[in-house]
Amino acid sequence: MNTIPPPLRPDPVRLTDHYQEIQASAFRLVLDRLERRGVSVENLARAELRQEVAAAVSATLESASAALNSAERARLIEELLDEILGYGPLEALLNDPTVDDIIVNGAKRVYVERGGVLSRVPIRFRDDAHLMAVIQRIVGPIGRRVDEASPYCDARLPDGSRVNIVVPPIAIDGPALSIRKSRRVMMTVMDLVRRGFAPRDAVDYLARAVRARLNMLIVGGTGSGKTTLLNVLSTFIGPSERLVTIEDAAELQIRQDHVVRLETRPSSADGRPAILARDLMRNALRMRPDRIILGEVRGTEAVEMLQAMSTGHDGSMSTLHANSPRDALARIEMLLAFSGLPIEPRALRRFISSSINIIVEVRRMPDGRRRLTHISEVLGVEDDTYRIQDVFKLTEDDGSINESPRMLRSAYATRLQDVAGIVA
Ligand SMILES: Nc1ncnc2c1ncn2[C@@H]1O[C@H](COP(=O)(O)OP(=O)(O)O)[C@@H](O)[C@H]1O
Ligand SMILES: [Mg+2]
Repeated sequence: MNTIPPPLRPDPVRLTDHYQEIQASAFRLVLDRLERRGVSVENLARAELRQEVAAAVSATLESASAALNSAERARLIEELLDEILGYGPLEALLNDPTVDDIIVNGAKRVYVERGGVLSRVPIRFRDDAHLMAVIQRIVGPIGRRVDEASPYCDARLPDGSRVNIVVPPIAIDGPALSIRKSRRVMMTVMDLVRRGFAPRDAVDYLARAVRARLNMLIVGGTGSGKTTLLNVLSTFIGPSERLVTIEDAAELQIRQDHVVRLETRPSSADGRPAILARDLMRNALRMRPDRIILGEVRGTEAVEMLQAMSTGHDGSMSTLHANSPRDALARIEMLLAFSGLPIEPRALRRFISSSINIIVEVRRMPDGRRRLTHISEVLGVEDDTYRIQDVFKLTEDDGSINESPRMLRSAYATRLQDVAGIVA
């Protein structure tokens, strides 16, 4: 497998500028005609609109004396409907269940990730202005605009997919967009085992750790599968436990009934203040939750998260961007230092090590597969360094992979024995 995009198929007529111009004129013609009749798009059924579009396509092709075969023509009509009702060229990719991520680098370079492999697709925007129009349509509903004055933005599509946008002058080669699609079908723990994410006994350990209410931090790089693992593991939380979840973009898929979902909010152009993860964490602590699930620790909300873990909300979970379990602890230390917590370094480490019970590391391997690389138990502090015990290790310190890693004896063995594993 490779991650280098294969060359674009010398395919389609619809990649040519000529076709793009025809599409643009048909698009304008439909809108003109509707406007002249005083009809707004929202009041038309898709079937009615399709007829309007088909008529405009015929008229445009005729006046441009262009010929398209019937398949190309049908396709053009669908593209125009997507343009009018949806996110234009992105619609086809958003509706394709095999596509996990969509990456747009300027109007003419569109890539998708399927099953961990990135490839270029024969889809384009007419030009940067067209791409910008789609971008404004994405951010409009959250009350944002993306322009020179605020050239980057995080947004979310109605289906929960996460979008990041960067435009010129920050993005040098034109507007760039990346979409991480929300998975409609959630993976199960057995899917993880089948896909070779981790051996069965390691997954069994994680399931027991959740049931035994160990506090857990899932760490790894961007896109390594942290949130996915968190979602899967949350299925082992008891049905009667009261959960509060906190996140930036509704990515968590917690299937328990007893869950209150909180989401942060960016500040808006008209002066509405931001609501930060830290604000929500403070509030969550007053909501009498059994556990708190923080989608990702990024800032000073780490303080409240660790407080939650050490003050009776056992079994709380979060994710963190870090390269190893030790790196994760160093990052947490840094976040706590930024938070202004008046505590000396030694006590700080004790606080951290007594709050976090296990650190789970996941990694996106060079072939695109996601794998569990570490399960580390945090057991305390000794001589100012953390006492960590790896009970599972896929990669050695030199980076080599041990293809048959064994689970080592856990310091929590007695607690884990008392609860059911993956086959409950
Ligand atoms: N175990 C896995 N097997 C296959 N694909 C996965 C796995 N875990 C995550 N993915 C895919 O990888 C992408 C990133 O996953 P995500 O959990 O959002 O990563 P992170 O939270 O680390 O940024 C998603 O498209 C997701 O569907
Ligand atoms: Mg994530």
